[in-house]
Amino acid sequence: MNIPFSKVDCSGNELKYVKEVIESGWLTTAGKCVEFEKQFAAKVGGKYACAVNSATAALHLAAEALGIGPGDKVFVPTMTFTASAEVIRYLGADPVFLDVEYGTCLVTPEILEKAVKQNPGAKALVLVHFGGQSADLDGILAVCRRHGIKLIEDAAHAFPTQYKGKMIGSFGDVTCFSFYANKTITTGEGGMLVTDDEAIYKRVKTMRLHGINRDIWDRFTAKKANWEYDVVAPGYKYNMPDVNAAIGLAQMERADEFRVGRQRCAEFYYKHLAGVAGVDLPVCHGPSADHSWHLFWIVLNEKCPLERNAFIDRVNEAGIGTSVHYKPLHRMTYYRDRYGLKPDDYPNAERHWRGVVTLPVYPGLSDEDLAYICETVKKLVG
Ligand SMILES: Cc1ncc(COP(=O)(O)O)c(C=O)c1O
Repeated sequence: MNIPFSKVDCSGNELKYVKEVIESGWLTTAGKCVEFEKQFAAKVGGKYACAVNSATAALHLAAEALGIGPGDKVFVPTMTFTASAEVIRYLGADPVFLDVEYGTCLVTPEILEKAVKQNPGAKALVLVHFGGQSADLDGILAVCRRHGIKLIEDAAHAFPTQYKGKMIGSFGDVTCFSFYANKTITTGEGGMLVTDDEAIYKRVKTMRLHGINRDIWDRFTAKKANWEYDVVAPGYKYNMPDVNAAIGLAQMERADEFRVGRQRCAEFYYKHLAGVAGVDLPVCHGPSADHSWHLFWIVLNEKCPLERNAFIDRVNEAGIGTSVHYKPLHRMTYYRDRYGLKPDDYPNAERHWRGVVTLPVYPGLSDEDLAYICETVKKLVG
C-alpha cells in the first residue's frame, strides 16, 4: 500500500487556463487574477476580494490595514500554524496565545472572554477555523463587539465552509484564505483576502503592490498616461501572478465536488473508528455539510498502548502518510522563549498535541484505501 497524506487533483481545466495565460504573453497579475477575485468574492458572499501570493501575505495585509502596530496585543490560538502569529510580530505587535477547546481545536467565546479580562485593551483576534470547521461566530463576534476587538478570520482551512447557512468570508473584519499546495483548493502558492470594508480593501490593494497607488494591470489597460504612478506607503510584493490565478479558477469550478469527496472520507472514518477505545475523534458541532473537512485527525488517548511518535512510525511503515496538526506555538522555541510560555497554561492544546495524528483526507481516496487506514489504526491501538 502507498497512500500519500495529500494528493492534488489538477485534472480539470487547470492546464487549459494556464495555457491561455502563457499564450497571452502576460504572466503576472492581470485578467485571470481579476476574474478569480470576482468569482471568489461571489462564492463566499464578500464585497471585496484581493488575491495574494499566500495566506500569510493576506494575514499580514489584514493586520496592517486594521492598524495593528508596535505594542498592540493580538489574540492568537496556540493550536495553529506559525503564520497566524508571525504576521503580528512583523508589525511589532505581540501575540497573546489562547488555549482551544478539546475536540475541535477552536477558540470559544468563553476562552476569549477570559483572555480579554486578563488582557484588557487587546486590539484584535486571529480566529482560526481549525481543520475547516467554523468557530462559534455569533458568540465570538459578540465578545469582540463588547470589547472593541477587531476580528481577522484565518480561514486557511475553511474554503468552502459555512456557518449557519452562510459561507465563511464576510463575518469578521477581514477573512484570509490559503491556496497552498495541500489546501482544499490550490494555486500552488496563493491566498485571498476578503472584506466588506471599502477602506480596508483600498489599503490592502495598495499595500499588496509596493504601496503604489495604481495596479500594474490598470496602468497597462487604462486610457490615461500609463507610466504615471505614485508611491504612497512602503508596501509589499504580495500580488498573485495570473499563472496561479488560472489554476485557482479551474480549482474553484470543483471546490464543492472536492468538499463532498472529503466529507465522504470523514464520514467513513467516523463510522469505522467510532467506539475504538484508544482514540478520540474530532468533534463536529454543526452539520457535516458545513465543514470543509480540510483535516481529519485522531487523538491517541491514555488507553492507546503506543505513544504518538511510535504510532506514526508504524502507520508510515504500513504505507500510510500522516501529519501532525500541530505542535502548538507555545512549544515553539521563538514564542516560548520570547513570551515565557508554559505548557500548563494550555491544557487542552497539550492534550491534543500529545496524541494527535492527522489522517489522509482527499477525494481520490477509495473506500478500499479508507478501510485499510481504519484497519491499520485499529490493529495498532489494540
Ligand atoms: C491555519 C493556517 N494559517 C495560515 C497558513 C498560511 O498559509 P500560506 O501557506 O498560504 O501562507 C496556514 C498554512 O498552512 C495555516 O494552516
